[in-house]
Amino acid sequence: MKKVLVINGPNLNMLGLREPALYGAKNFEALQQFIRGCADELQLQVQLFQSNHEGAIVDAIQEAYGVYDGILINPAAYTHTSVAILDALKAVAIPTVEVHLTDISQREDFRKFSFVSLYAEKRICGKGFEGYREALEYLSKK
Ligand code: DQA
Repeated sequence: MKKVLVINGPNLNMLGLREPALYGAKNFEALQQFIRGCADELQLQVQLFQSNHEGAIVDAIQEAYGVYDGILINPAAYTHTSVAILDALKAVAIPTVEVHLTDISQREDFRKFSFVSLYAEKRICGKGFEGYREALEYLSKK
């Protein structure tokens, strides 16, 4: 069974409460349940990780080396700022899909650039929870 590490970055743990007009009314627990359900359907083993701390995300990516076959990452705000996360992904060289709940290309200018996109094989934006399913589907076929 393929193993996928799912990483959610800062403030995604505030889903439901956080700008519901943008991110929806469902909370983070609902997202995690959704991901687990998709993984079961696709016969993937998933590990769910969320952190508000850049270094903790870098550590999780480094520790994925030799353990996971794929990474699904929503780096949240670090998408637009973190060379460290990009470098960690390049270091472990694990197939990676970048997911965003919203369409970052249609929001503020500062969200249009993604460091992670310089490494990720695929980016899925603006599909809400469904984007996570699409990403897992893609990784299951790798
Ligand atoms: C996000 C988009 C980012 O710009 C933002 O900082 C987030 C969430 C998304 O899922 O749409 O925290 O990654």
